[in-house]
Amino acid sequence: IPVDPFDLVIFGGTGDLARRKIYPGLYQRMKAGQMPAEARIVGAARSEHDDEEFRGIVRDALIEFVPEKDIDSETLEAFLACLSYEAVDARGDAGWEELKGHIRDGVVHAFYFSVAPSLFGDLAERLHTYGMAGDGCRIVVEKPFGHDLASAKELNATLEKHFSEEQIYRIDHYLGKETVQNLMAVRFGNVLFEPLWNAQYVDHIQITVAETVGVGGRGEYYDRSGAMRDMVQNHLMQLLCLIAMEPPSRFGSDEVRDEKLKVIRALEPVQPHHIIRGQYEAKGDEPDFREDAGDPRSRTESFIALRLAISNWRWAGTPFYLRTGKKLKARTSEIAVVFKDAPHSIFDETGKSHRNILTIRLQPNEGMELCVTIKEPGPGGMRLVDVPLDMTFADALGPDGADIPEAYERLIMDVIRGNQTLFMRGDEVEAAWAWTDPLIAGWEARNDVPKPYEPGSSGPEDALMLMHRDGRKWREIKA
Ligand code: BG6
Repeated sequence: IPVDPFDLVIFGGTGDLARRKIYPGLYQRMKAGQMPAEARIVGAARSEHDDEEFRGIVRDALIEFVPEKDIDSETLEAFLACLSYEAVDARGDAGWEELKGHIRDGVVHAFYFSVAPSLFGDLAERLHTYGMAGDGCRIVVEKPFGHDLASAKELNATLEKHFSEEQIYRIDHYLGKETVQNLMAVRFGNVLFEPLWNAQYVDHIQITVAETVGVGGRGEYYDRSGAMRDMVQNHLMQLLCLIAMEPPSRFGSDEVRDEKLKVIRALEPVQPHHIIRGQYEAKGDEPDFREDAGDPRSRTESFIALRLAISNWRWAGTPFYLRTGKKLKARTSEIAVVFKDAPHSIFDETGKSHRNILTIRLQPNEGMELCVTIKEPGPGGMRLVDVPLDMTFADALGPDGADIPEAYERLIMDVIRGNQTLFMRGDEVEAAWAWTDPLIAGWEARNDVPKPYEPGSSGPEDALMLMHRDGRKWREIKA
């Protein structure tokens, strides 16, 4: 179903995120028939370009970042025809009146702040001054949403001066991933799982977001944030919330976000020995983390593993193990819900453990797998074996299932439709920082030095020990 015509202004309109994700995402939505030809997309940035040059920049970006099979000249031309450009000075007055000239009455307006957070305040203020911050408009902001609780509060306060919470769309692109939404569908659309979804039946939950890339190219940013700020405070925290939250009364934006907030607030402080930080070493010609970060003495982590506890009735006693890192063995993200052993074995298999495991794979090959215990085939007696019931969405749903939209496609359309369910609310972001800050302050005070790990491995040995000590083990990181 097409969305209504809209005007979307992209500040940072020639930047990396816009070229890699925003234009390709919008293009795909147009191809899918969701973005109407009457939509207007205005790129805005400091440099001077005329519309034709700007269309050339976007055309190049589409050719580079949209899979070749999805490029067709008709959609491409229709898409480029929606584009125009305005040079604006975020900190001055140049270009703002002209920008206003692009905005039509009677359609949804959205302003995408695809710029450094230090400019958010300037943009918000000028949108207000030039009469573009009316009730109907929406602003979209990207992470990093603050560096700690104090800066996140300041950022929220800056935006809230001119916009209400209902107008602010804070993107965490993990929430736009198809499987993440499927997690909610599976939990709350079936009777099968929810009765078992608690400490009585769940032994533990593992969340892994493993990447193969290093931080080369963005070392300076990364050295100031590290895996905790870059990934855990936002993406992994969001996954944790969706897996652990109580069922909301309806799939509405405040209902869902209220429940997520309760999870964050119920997180216990983490014991120092439940935090393992790592840094990748050099390998072959590839530099180590410190060289990529541009600081030979950097103590920033490119890997982190944590054991968390949620203090509430549902989860008391069930640990959550989280890990994420760069330059690991494979690019794979998954959540595994590991159920307890059956309370008693009738099969004379003393000492053997058989566990049901529900794995939700975010990438690659989005899908789910439920591991169940069955009899090993053959006449050899009653021997048990654990086998996966695999549901790779692309296989299960036929040709349409293979066409899973990118996170940004869905999120931008949600902005236009005015649906905030998959965006972070200000209080959620602040609660996540309130939990994160003391952990970081703790390891800084202890002068903790991250453990080295070999590129292409599963992270430092100590991270394996984090689970071994508890008599558990991480699932293998594999593509
Ligand atoms: C970003 C982080 O938010 O997410 C990056 O800043 C990380 O460091 C990226 O690589 C991972 O996203 P995805 O969608 O590729 O898993």
